[in-house]
Amino acid sequence: MTTLKRWVLKHRPQGEIAPGDLELVEEPIADLADGEVLVRNVYLSLDPTNRIWMSDQDQYLPPVQIGETMRGGGIGVVERSRSDSFKQGDVVNPGLAGWSTHTIAAAGAVSPVPAIPGVPLTAFMSVLGATGLTAWFGMIDIGKPQAGETVVVSAAAGAVGSIAGQLAKLRGARVIGIAGGKAKCDWLTGELGFDGAIDYKSENVGAALDRLCPNGIDVNFENVGGEIMDAVFSRMNNFGRMVLCGMISTYNAGGIPAGPTDFSRILMHRLTVKGFIIIDYLPRASEALAELGPLVASGALKWKVHVEDGLENAVAAVGRLFTGDHDGKLLLRISPEP
Ligand SMILES: NC(=O)c1ccc[n+]([C@@H]2O[C@H](COP(=O)([O-])OP(=O)(O)OC[C@H]3O[C@@H](n4cnc5c(N)ncnc54)[C@H](OP(=O)(O)O)[C@@H]3O)[C@@H](O)[C@H]2O)c1
Repeated sequence: MTTLKRWVLKHRPQGEIAPGDLELVEEPIADLADGEVLVRNVYLSLDPTNRIWMSDQDQYLPPVQIGETMRGGGIGVVERSRSDSFKQGDVVNPGLAGWSTHTIAAAGAVSPVPAIPGVPLTAFMSVLGATGLTAWFGMIDIGKPQAGETVVVSAAAGAVGSIAGQLAKLRGARVIGIAGGKAKCDWLTGELGFDGAIDYKSENVGAALDRLCPNGIDVNFENVGGEIMDAVFSRMNNFGRMVLCGMISTYNAGGIPAGPTDFSRILMHRLTVKGFIIIDYLPRASEALAELGPLVASGALKWKVHVEDGLENAVAAVGRLFTGDHDGKLLLRISPEP
């Protein structure tokens, strides 16, 4: 292979990501410098935050600039190496690889992906990757659910939410999930052991929360923002914890998203509201993996991936995150697994 393909940001999206906002370009693969490796990318993680990175709003990383390769996380195989640390065939995480068939990276930015018998490579792109770490640090380190408490998770059937809810169940909490559609709600209560599920596409969320959380809400693992967030927030108990993980309902909207209607509830009910970004917690990843690893190996924690194929389909595929037209952590397979 002498050329690579990569998606370049051409325009900042207005509303939903449109086909012309990015352009797929093909170019020769550059020669490696000393200490660099060439990685053939296998899986690309498609994430709600991709939409944030495409915008120039105030955010936690620099926005992707017009003309730059779209940023993205992935896993791949070393094809060429000019580093003693990696050899051809090694399975690695090349850092923020980008929406590209290949990545040239300095060896110091590359980390090996462990091979664990019985654990598929896709686990490291989901439950044992940033997704699982987000769920664990958000729920366990920040939410701190206690036995008997009521926990509400939004986007509960999604990649992060489904794991976060199961972790709260393992701590003995009562867990209610909010998700779109009967099939996703049935999965939460039928297979993941959630105590209740609310289909926000067909039910009034506030009325359903009143029915399913008669004693109020102690922990809100918030993934959605907007009216769903407000409905949960306005039912939080004294000393409740709001884990602000994401606000996906606002990412396509532009402007400054609305917060909870009644800000004084934080004062009157002595709430803790904490936003977090998983990259700040990566130095502590081993704390989360010490619990997640055995749960995955034993099958006690359930997780799913939804794999779309072909780098050329990246723009269409990422849109699924905003319609819910995916079932599990959304991945793009760029080339075959080794
Ligand atoms: N803080 C961090 O470090 C961090 C890290 C990873 C992810 N996140 C955040 O976590 C959230 C979930 O991310 P994920 O990767 O696990 O994705 P995901 O939940 O697998 O997919 C996104 C889901 O969001 C729901 N959704 C989209 N638009 C919605 C809307 N307008 N109203 C209600 N629900 C909507 C859909 O669920 P339904 O099909 O049920 O509608 C969709 O499946 C996002 O907000 C993301 O930004 C934060």
